[in-house]
Amino acid sequence: YEVIVKKEITSTNSYAKQLNDEKRDNKRRLIIAEKQTQGYGRRGRHFYSPDKTGLYMSMVVPFHDGKHLNPGLLTTMTAVVVAKALQKMYPEVDFAVKWINDIYVNNKKVVGILTELVMDAELMQPSAIVVGIGINLTTKAVPEELRDKVGYISDKPIDKNKLVDLIVNNFEDEFPNYLSADFIDDYQKMSFLDGKQVQVDTLQQTVSGTVTGIDKQGHLLLNDGKKDIVVSNGEVVKV
Ligand code: BTN
Repeated sequence: YEVIVKKEITSTNSYAKQLNDEKRDNKRRLIIAEKQTQGYGRRGRHFYSPDKTGLYMSMVVPFHDGKHLNPGLLTTMTAVVVAKALQKMYPEVDFAVKWINDIYVNNKKVVGILTELVMDAELMQPSAIVVGIGINLTTKAVPEELRDKVGYISDKPIDKNKLVDLIVNNFEDEFPNYLSADFIDDYQKMSFLDGKQVQVDTLQQTVSGTVTGIDKQGHLLLNDGKKDIVVSNGEVVKV
């Protein structure tokens, strides 16, 4: 890995993509920032990333064969990887994974994960995946409109380098075989949504049902009382 650490940055994900565009070297990179001024999440939403109280990082994972290209499953894998790393750092805290890309503590979001494809502009094909991870460690001063949803992990000080190390090492261990989805069992064990009644916005439509689990593709499984529903892409809007 080429490791780049910044005090302040617009967004570690956009910087990762920019570097890849400029250099076209398909290098593994790890970009870490103490603060982001334009952190973003899914559907272009702002990701609140204040100074020092969080950890904002992006991993650039180049791939040389199209078969490793499954951003949905990689996001799910990353959620498990990050949750396990956090569980080690904070044994006293209960972490839950919420489909597809969030980690919760006490019913509030404390981690967001965003995977993005990097296109090689000349070859016009994807050349890498950027895995962005934003963690609210001690972030308390959350803007009013986010207060119901966004939380923080703990006041306990931790060694951030150790956390990054755990995440990157867990990631490296899981990545070679992530397409076989062996981590799904762990995901299921930590699932925030299992058994809950949810509403999912899939862009085409809104579906409702009780969550029964996720499958080996990382798709969310629901039952609406009459039939099973498989949701491959979408956003849980109500729990
Ligand atoms: C989401 O909640 O939809 C995902 C949020 C992802 C945030 C992380 S923070 C590090 C990286 N840089 C960004 O701009 N976003 C991701």
